[in-house]
Amino acid sequence: MVRVTASPVLAPIGAVAGVRAPGLVLQAPTEADADAVAAACQDPQIQEWTTVPAPYDRADAETFLLAVERGWADGTMLTWAIKDGNAIVGMIGLALEPVRSAELGYWLVPAARGRGWMGAALRVVVDHAFDHDGVGLDRLLWHAYVGNWPSRRVAERAGFRVEGTIRAHGIQRGRRRDSWIGTLLRTDQR
Ligand SMILES: CC(C)(COP(=O)(O)OP(=O)(O)OC[C@H]1O[C@@H](n2cnc3c(N)ncnc32)[C@H](O)[C@@H]1OP(=O)(O)O)[C@@H](O)C(=O)NCCC(=O)NCCS
Repeated sequence: MVRVTASPVLAPIGAVAGVRAPGLVLQAPTEADADAVAAACQDPQIQEWTTVPAPYDRADAETFLLAVERGWADGTMLTWAIKDGNAIVGMIGLALEPVRSAELGYWLVPAARGRGWMGAALRVVVDHAFDHDGVGLDRLLWHAYVGNWPSRRVAERAGFRVEGTIRAHGIQRGRRRDSWIGTLLRTDQR
Protein backbone atom coordinates (compact mmCIF):
# COMPACT_ATOMS: atom_id res chain seq x y z
CA MET A 1 0.00 0.00 0.00
CA VAL A 2 1.23 3.46 -0.84
CA ARG A 3 1.99 5.61 2.16
CA VAL A 4 0.23 8.88 1.68
CA THR A 5 1.37 12.22 2.98
CA ALA A 6 -1.27 14.09 1.04
CA SER A 7 -2.84 17.10 2.61
CA PRO A 8 -6.48 16.96 3.67
CA VAL A 9 -6.77 20.60 2.57
CA LEU A 10 -6.33 21.45 -1.08
CA ALA A 11 -6.22 24.86 -2.73
CA PRO A 12 -9.40 26.72 -3.66
CA ILE A 13 -10.85 25.29 -6.85
CA GLY A 14 -13.03 28.18 -7.94
CA ALA A 15 -10.70 29.31 -10.70
CA VAL A 16 -10.29 25.84 -12.16
CA ALA A 17 -11.97 24.85 -15.43
CA GLY A 18 -13.52 28.27 -15.84
CA VAL A 19 -16.09 27.91 -13.07
CA ARG A 20 -17.01 31.11 -11.29
CA ALA A 21 -17.19 30.06 -7.69
CA PRO A 22 -14.63 31.93 -5.61
CA GLY A 23 -15.69 30.25 -2.37
CA LEU A 24 -15.28 26.69 -3.61
CA VAL A 25 -12.67 24.66 -1.68
CA LEU A 26 -11.74 21.06 -0.99
CA GLN A 27 -11.29 20.20 2.64
CA ALA A 28 -11.44 16.95 4.60
CA PRO A 29 -14.81 16.67 6.38
CA THR A 30 -14.92 16.18 10.13
CA GLU A 31 -17.39 14.78 12.66
CA ALA A 32 -18.87 18.29 12.89
CA ASP A 33 -20.24 17.77 9.37
CA ALA A 34 -22.53 14.85 10.26
CA ASP A 35 -25.76 16.81 9.92
CA ALA A 36 -24.76 18.26 6.54
CA VAL A 37 -23.71 14.85 5.20
CA ALA A 38 -26.89 13.21 6.48
CA ALA A 39 -29.00 15.93 4.84
CA ALA A 40 -27.16 15.60 1.52
CA CYS A 41 -27.50 11.82 1.45
CA GLN A 42 -31.32 12.03 1.56
CA ASP A 43 -31.11 12.87 -2.17
CA PRO A 44 -32.71 10.11 -4.29
CA GLN A 45 -30.02 10.46 -6.99
CA ILE A 46 -27.19 9.93 -4.51
CA GLN A 47 -29.04 6.89 -3.18
CA GLU A 48 -29.73 5.61 -6.71
CA TRP A 49 -26.17 5.87 -8.03
CA THR A 50 -23.92 5.27 -5.01
CA THR A 51 -23.58 2.70 -2.25
CA VAL A 52 -24.71 4.97 0.59
CA PRO A 53 -27.23 3.35 2.95
CA ALA A 54 -30.90 3.93 2.14
CA PRO A 55 -32.65 5.09 4.21
CA TYR A 56 -29.79 7.28 5.47
CA ASP A 57 -29.71 8.74 8.98
CA ARG A 58 -27.30 10.70 11.16
CA ALA A 59 -25.64 7.53 12.49
CA ASP A 60 -24.74 6.61 8.88
CA ALA A 61 -23.08 10.00 8.47
CA GLU A 62 -21.15 9.50 11.73
CA THR A 63 -19.97 6.07 10.54
CA PHE A 64 -18.87 7.56 7.22
CA LEU A 65 -16.99 10.42 8.89
CA LEU A 66 -15.21 7.99 11.21
CA ALA A 67 -14.12 6.01 8.13
CA VAL A 68 -12.93 9.26 6.54
CA GLU A 69 -10.83 10.06 9.61
CA ARG A 70 -9.33 6.53 9.62
CA GLY A 71 -8.72 6.75 5.88
CA TRP A 72 -6.66 9.92 6.31
CA ALA A 73 -4.82 8.43 9.29
CA ASP A 74 -3.70 5.24 7.52
CA GLY A 75 -3.57 6.65 3.99
CA THR A 76 -6.06 4.18 2.52
CA MET A 77 -8.88 6.60 1.73
CA LEU A 78 -8.53 10.30 0.97
CA THR A 79 -11.83 12.14 1.12
CA TRP A 80 -12.50 15.83 0.59
CA ALA A 81 -15.71 17.71 1.14
CA ILE A 82 -16.47 20.16 -1.65
CA LYS A 83 -17.40 23.32 0.22
CA ASP A 84 -18.96 26.52 -1.01
CA GLY A 85 -17.87 28.80 1.80
CA ASN A 86 -18.78 26.84 4.92
CA ALA A 87 -21.51 24.77 3.28
CA ILE A 88 -20.81 21.21 2.16
CA VAL A 89 -22.09 20.84 -1.40
CA GLY A 90 -20.39 17.59 -2.35
CA MET A 91 -17.83 14.92 -1.62
CA ILE A 92 -14.94 13.49 -3.65
CA GLY A 93 -12.57 10.74 -2.64
CA LEU A 94 -9.85 8.32 -3.59
CA ALA A 95 -9.93 4.78 -2.22
CA LEU A 96 -6.37 3.55 -2.55
CA GLU A 97 -5.60 0.08 -3.81
CA PRO A 98 -2.29 -1.67 -4.38
CA VAL A 99 -0.13 -0.46 -6.06
CA ARG A 100 -0.11 3.32 -6.79
CA SER A 101 -3.72 3.08 -7.92
CA ALA A 102 -6.99 4.39 -6.54
CA GLU A 103 -10.70 4.28 -7.19
CA LEU A 104 -12.55 7.54 -7.48
CA GLY A 105 -15.93 8.40 -5.97
CA TYR A 106 -18.00 11.60 -5.91
CA TRP A 107 -21.37 13.23 -5.41
CA LEU A 108 -22.89 16.71 -5.36
CA VAL A 109 -26.06 17.94 -3.67
CA PRO A 110 -28.79 18.72 -6.24
CA ALA A 111 -28.45 22.52 -5.91
CA ALA A 112 -24.74 22.31 -6.82
CA ARG A 113 -25.23 20.31 -10.03
CA GLY A 114 -25.08 21.60 -13.58
CA ARG A 115 -22.44 24.25 -12.79
CA GLY A 116 -19.24 22.40 -13.67
CA TRP A 117 -18.24 22.20 -10.02
CA MET A 118 -17.52 18.48 -10.02
CA GLY A 119 -15.40 18.87 -13.14
CA ALA A 120 -13.34 21.53 -11.37
CA ALA A 121 -13.02 19.45 -8.20
CA LEU A 122 -12.04 16.42 -10.21
CA ARG A 123 -9.33 18.29 -12.07
CA VAL A 124 -7.73 19.36 -8.78
CA VAL A 125 -7.99 15.87 -7.26
CA VAL A 126 -6.64 14.17 -10.40
CA ASP A 127 -3.63 16.52 -10.53
CA HIS A 128 -3.01 15.91 -6.84
CA ALA A 129 -3.41 12.14 -7.27
CA PHE A 130 -0.78 11.95 -10.02
CA ASP A 131 1.58 14.62 -8.73
CA HIS A 132 4.81 13.18 -7.29
CA ASP A 133 4.53 15.78 -4.52
CA GLY A 134 0.91 14.76 -3.98
CA VAL A 135 -0.18 11.13 -3.83
CA GLY A 136 2.08 9.92 -6.65
CA LEU A 137 -0.32 7.46 -8.27
CA ASP A 138 0.08 5.82 -11.68
CA ARG A 139 -3.57 5.05 -12.32
CA LEU A 140 -7.11 6.04 -11.41
CA LEU A 141 -10.17 3.86 -11.76
CA TRP A 142 -13.75 5.13 -12.18
CA HIS A 143 -16.87 3.06 -12.26
CA ALA A 144 -20.53 3.93 -12.30
CA TYR A 145 -23.70 1.91 -12.61
CA VAL A 146 -24.79 1.68 -16.24
CA GLY A 147 -26.98 4.66 -17.12
CA ASN A 148 -25.30 7.23 -14.89
CA TRP A 149 -24.57 9.64 -17.72
CA PRO A 150 -23.76 12.72 -15.59
CA SER A 151 -21.05 10.76 -13.76
CA ARG A 152 -19.73 9.33 -17.02
CA ARG A 153 -19.59 12.71 -18.76
CA VAL A 154 -17.76 14.28 -15.80
CA ALA A 155 -15.22 11.43 -15.82
CA GLU A 156 -14.76 11.59 -19.60
CA ARG A 157 -14.23 15.35 -19.51
CA ALA A 158 -11.48 14.77 -16.93
CA GLY A 159 -9.79 12.43 -19.41
CA PHE A 160 -11.03 9.03 -18.28
CA ARG A 161 -11.42 6.46 -21.05
CA VAL A 162 -14.53 4.39 -20.59
CA GLU A 163 -13.36 0.93 -21.49
CA GLY A 164 -16.51 -1.13 -21.22
CA THR A 165 -19.26 -2.63 -19.15
CA ILE A 166 -18.72 -5.28 -16.52
CA ARG A 167 -21.82 -7.27 -15.78
CA ALA A 168 -22.88 -7.55 -12.12
CA HIS A 169 -19.68 -5.73 -11.09
CA GLY A 170 -21.21 -3.49 -8.44
CA ILE A 171 -22.92 -4.58 -5.26
CA GLN A 172 -25.29 -1.88 -4.12
CA ARG A 173 -26.94 -2.62 -0.79
CA GLY A 174 -26.90 -6.34 -1.59
CA ARG A 175 -28.10 -5.96 -5.19
CA ARG A 176 -25.78 -6.62 -8.11
CA ARG A 177 -25.63 -3.97 -10.84
CA ASP A 178 -23.79 -3.70 -14.13
CA SER A 179 -21.03 -1.09 -14.19
CA TRP A 180 -19.27 1.07 -16.71
CA ILE A 181 -15.53 1.06 -16.08
CA GLY A 182 -12.96 3.66 -17.03
CA THR A 183 -9.36 4.45 -16.26
CA LEU A 184 -7.02 7.41 -16.37
CA LEU A 185 -3.27 6.90 -16.35
CA ARG A 186 -0.70 9.45 -15.28
CA THR A 187 0.80 9.13 -18.74
CA ASP A 188 -2.50 9.94 -20.49
CA GLN A 189 -2.98 13.32 -22.08
CA ARG A 190 -5.36 15.42 -19.95
C1 LIG B 1 -22.44 12.76 -10.96
C2 LIG B 1 -22.54 14.22 -10.54
C3 LIG B 1 -21.47 14.54 -9.51
C4 LIG B 1 -22.28 15.05 -11.81
O1 LIG B 1 -22.29 16.41 -11.48
P1 LIG B 1 -23.28 17.40 -12.28
O2 LIG B 1 -23.03 18.77 -11.82
O3 LIG B 1 -24.66 16.85 -12.17
O4 LIG B 1 -22.77 17.23 -13.75
P2 LIG B 1 -23.15 18.18 -14.95
O5 LIG B 1 -24.46 18.85 -14.74
O6 LIG B 1 -21.94 19.01 -15.20
O7 LIG B 1 -23.37 17.13 -16.11
C5 LIG B 1 -22.29 16.41 -16.60
C6 LIG B 1 -22.57 16.06 -18.03
O8 LIG B 1 -23.60 15.07 -18.10
C7 LIG B 1 -24.58 15.49 -19.02
N1 LIG B 1 -25.86 14.92 -18.58
C8 LIG B 1 -26.58 15.26 -17.50
N2 LIG B 1 -27.68 14.49 -17.43
C9 LIG B 1 -27.63 13.65 -18.49
C10 LIG B 1 -28.47 12.60 -18.99
N3 LIG B 1 -29.59 12.27 -18.34
N4 LIG B 1 -28.10 11.95 -20.10
C11 LIG B 1 -26.96 12.27 -20.75
N5 LIG B 1 -26.12 13.24 -20.34
C12 LIG B 1 -26.48 13.91 -19.22
C13 LIG B 1 -24.54 16.98 -18.98
O9 LIG B 1 -25.05 17.55 -20.17
C14 LIG B 1 -23.04 17.22 -18.89
O10 LIG B 1 -22.45 16.99 -20.15
P3 LIG B 1 -21.25 17.88 -20.71
O11 LIG B 1 -20.13 17.77 -19.71
O12 LIG B 1 -20.92 17.28 -22.00
O13 LIG B 1 -21.80 19.28 -20.78
C15 LIG B 1 -23.94 14.54 -9.94
O14 LIG B 1 -24.91 14.42 -10.96
C16 LIG B 1 -24.32 13.67 -8.77
O15 LIG B 1 -23.92 13.91 -7.66
N6 LIG B 1 -25.13 12.60 -9.01
C17 LIG B 1 -25.60 11.72 -7.96
C18 LIG B 1 -24.46 10.90 -7.34
C19 LIG B 1 -23.64 10.19 -8.39
O16 LIG B 1 -24.14 9.74 -9.39
N7 LIG B 1 -22.33 10.05 -8.10
C20 LIG B 1 -21.42 9.35 -8.99
C21 LIG B 1 -21.45 7.89 -8.72
S1 LIG B 1 -20.38 7.02 -9.88
